[in-house]
Amino acid sequence: MLKIAVLVSGGGTNLQAIIDAIGSGKITNTKIEFVFSNNKNAYALTRAMNAGIPTVSLSRKDYDSVESYDKAMLSEFKKRDIELIVLAGFLHNLSPEFTEEYKGRIINIHPSLIPSFCGKGFYGLHVHEAALEKGVKVTGATVHFVDAGIDTGRIITQKAVYVEEGDTPETLQRRVMENAEWIILPEAINKIAAGEIRIGE
Ligand code: GAR
Repeated sequence: MLKIAVLVSGGGTNLQAIIDAIGSGKITNTKIEFVFSNNKNAYALTRAMNAGIPTVSLSRKDYDSVESYDKAMLSEFKKRDIELIVLAGFLHNLSPEFTEEYKGRIINIHPSLIPSFCGKGFYGLHVHEAALEKGVKVTGATVHFVDAGIDTGRIITQKAVYVEEGDTPETLQRRVMENAEWIILPEAINKIAAGEIRIGE
């Protein structure tokens, strides 16, 4: 059984996709040990509680420094023997100490085809605003390993989504979620649990 932790900051639709995929058997051999949030008010925490999954939330503002915050965060993962960390709309950048400790064991879903529209400042709706501003006709989502950089780790899988005439950032975000994110993130977790994608390297 692959022990995973899912990290969230907001609505948690990707978390829901993982919970549902475990429920329906699309993800096998996997248990969400806990859901972690940097935002105590994240609706994602309610989704976790509704599914009977333990939650932990720690706010950055309750800590003097980012180092002490990351240390407190790290201890939550270490004490639960987490094998894979899944960033599902988690909007706090992990420290190099954290990414080193879990080298090759952290994956992230990003709402564009990396290397387009990624890096500092590209998160959530901003990604889709930038894609529409540029006028791209195809966008999508990427699951990648997380290293010390922002959206720089090795790509695991991607799925393309067409931009449509009259799209707003909101309609495009929804299509990318429905047609790419909610599909490729559960698939990647299942492949990792099945040993088809190796982690920890
Ligand atoms: C998702 O679109 C995810 O890809 C994105 O935030 C959204 C979270 O939605 N993540 C990033 O932009 C990371 N750079 P959710 O809370 O409903 O899953």
